[in-house]
Amino acid sequence: MSPGIARDRAELARALAELRAGGGRVALVPTMGALHAGHLALVARAGELAERVVVSIFVNPTQFAPGEDFERYPRTPEADLRALGGTACHLVFMPASEAIYPFGTAAAVRVHVPGLSGILCGASRPGHFDGVASVVLRLFHLVRPEIAVFGEKDYQQLLLVRRLVADLGLGIEIVGAPTVREADGLAMSSRNAYLAPDERRRAAAIPEVLRWMAEAWLAGGERGAIEAEGRARLEAAGLAPEYAVLRRAGDLGEPAPGERPARALIAARVGRTRLIDNWPIP
Ligand code: PAF
Repeated sequence: MSPGIARDRAELARALAELRAGGGRVALVPTMGALHAGHLALVARAGELAERVVVSIFVNPTQFAPGEDFERYPRTPEADLRALGGTACHLVFMPASEAIYPFGTAAAVRVHVPGLSGILCGASRPGHFDGVASVVLRLFHLVRPEIAVFGEKDYQQLLLVRRLVADLGLGIEIVGAPTVREADGLAMSSRNAYLAPDERRRAAAIPEVLRWMAEAWLAGGERGAIEAEGRARLEAAGLAPEYAVLRRAGDLGEPAPGERPARALIAARVGRTRLIDNWPIP
């Protein structure tokens, strides 16, 4: 079955009215397209949780800082629609920028989630999480889902969206879905498409180091020493780490010795490409 397509607010409202007429709950899977198996796993999870699934595909300009990869971010709409055929997806929302930001991005209402927006990825990408929170809130208002599914690969984003929903009382259940990995452990990401073959090989160090950090924490290691060794291992593999840290799983604060659940998190550059990944420590 091919999903329906809505490209503006009016088409979306009509399509949602039809979907809702059939009854049941609506789950939203927000994406920026260039869909891979990780996204399709989110759609499958949404299909388990709700009777109707909406996938949004929108490369959101407000979450990219000047000089970042907004212009060259992969856009593959035909392939994305083919990939969604035969999945649990009923409707694809593929808006132009005017449908999301009718007054333009400079004049757009924005939301800020204090604390979580300023650490880790937020420290090196100022404004990034304001853009994420703002576009997710817009998508929530336009689609009005009962459930929304986000990948744990963007763990900080997942926590930020949970906080946004809890603080504003949006009444949407936010579900995190486990990261889907390549055979060598590299987390699936649309940005993997940027990697040259040698960079792709080196990138496999990220999940290896994450797993090592998680095991070292479980074995009772000291946080500062584990983080320093994690950075050193990434550098030895030819990567430029931005951070390699252990954090509390619930709020990304600094954990007390041995505290769990925790999360190992890495952001590192492989050549020009910035990759992120994380590992659960239950
Ligand atoms: O994770 C992403 O692809 C994006 O940050 C999101 C949630 C679709 C918002 O643009």
